[in-house]
Amino acid sequence: MKKVLILTGIIAMLLASFAIADDVVKIGVALPMTGNISSFGQMVWQGVELANEMFPTVLGKKVELVLGDTRSDKTEAANVISRLINLNNVVGILGEVASSNTMAGAPIAEKYHIPLLSPASTNPLVTQGKTYTSRVCFIDPFQGHVAAVFAIKNLKAKSAAVFTDVAQDYSVGLSNFFIKDFTAAGGVVYKEYYQSGDQDFSAQLTDALSHNPDVIYISGYYPEIALMAKQARQLGYKGPFLAGDGAEAPELVQIAGSAVNGLYYTSHFNAEHPVTKIGQEFVAKFEEKYHTSPSALAALGFDDYLVMLNAIERAGSTDPVKINEAIRSTKNFEGVTGYITIGSDGNAVKSAVINEVVNGQFTYVTTINP
Ligand code: PHE
Repeated sequence: MKKVLILTGIIAMLLASFAIADDVVKIGVALPMTGNISSFGQMVWQGVELANEMFPTVLGKKVELVLGDTRSDKTEAANVISRLINLNNVVGILGEVASSNTMAGAPIAEKYHIPLLSPASTNPLVTQGKTYTSRVCFIDPFQGHVAAVFAIKNLKAKSAAVFTDVAQDYSVGLSNFFIKDFTAAGGVVYKEYYQSGDQDFSAQLTDALSHNPDVIYISGYYPEIALMAKQARQLGYKGPFLAGDGAEAPELVQIAGSAVNGLYYTSHFNAEHPVTKIGQEFVAKFEEKYHTSPSALAALGFDDYLVMLNAIERAGSTDPVKINEAIRSTKNFEGVTGYITIGSDGNAVKSAVINEVVNGQFTYVTTINP
């Protein structure tokens, strides 16, 4: 009798937990909320939270976001993704930002057949050979090409010093794509190397400046770009800087001050120039909520959430395999950063924006279509 009671109790508890679980759809979010590139995580999270506020349900159920902090670290990114899948039972994951971190977590998503949708990782290897890893952003062969053409046509550069962060797959890849297209057009490059976390770039800068380059191209992330730009100005460099999407964070200007005026960078979005109707709505809602204008990463975070939600809706199911199929057949989805189509290779093809830092503001220069 006692056994029967215990058993009934257990069954009742199980049923109750299923009933609760059935009421919500859990989506994991893996972001660098602390550590070297924490500004990236904070900005994406702003976009995701706003999107969740505006679109809180899917398939008639409440969306529950489970945020995990990767601490800007590859190993921790893998741990977070593993925890979200095995402990939190999420049906899909938004993240990470840095290509190296998404690449560290991707094998786990692949193993458990849970869709991992990166808002911002642009290195081609992130999705290469993968089934469950996709993204809502363009990739670096395009980003590097856009920068090379801009350097030649707009900045009239014939030579470039190229700084690569060897600790980041993103930077190594992006530098190579830039160099390929810049040299194919007759440009000369001087290569310099550093690592995430470095503070003193005077040796590499002295060497680079001895060649009198027309432009300094830095393919890394904002903490090092800011310090490097400051030190380059101190060494007398007056020319332009060119960087990739990894340059954009408030800290760039906070750390470097006027040294980054004249820094151009390729990006995904500029709040002065939303390209879609939802983009305009996003800018207004974002400014209302956060009292500041949205960054490219906030826009990508917003799109990442919406594309995941739209995939769940079209799948008509919370089965991760079906959601994944729906993600990879996203067609012409109206996002904030443009119309998003994701191919069976997991990549999105989209236009790029070029911004310039003018008086400490990220100012729109132009849009380049693929
Ligand atoms: N593209 C970068 C990477 O792959 C991440 C990034 C995107 C950073 C957009 C800032 C803005 O690592």
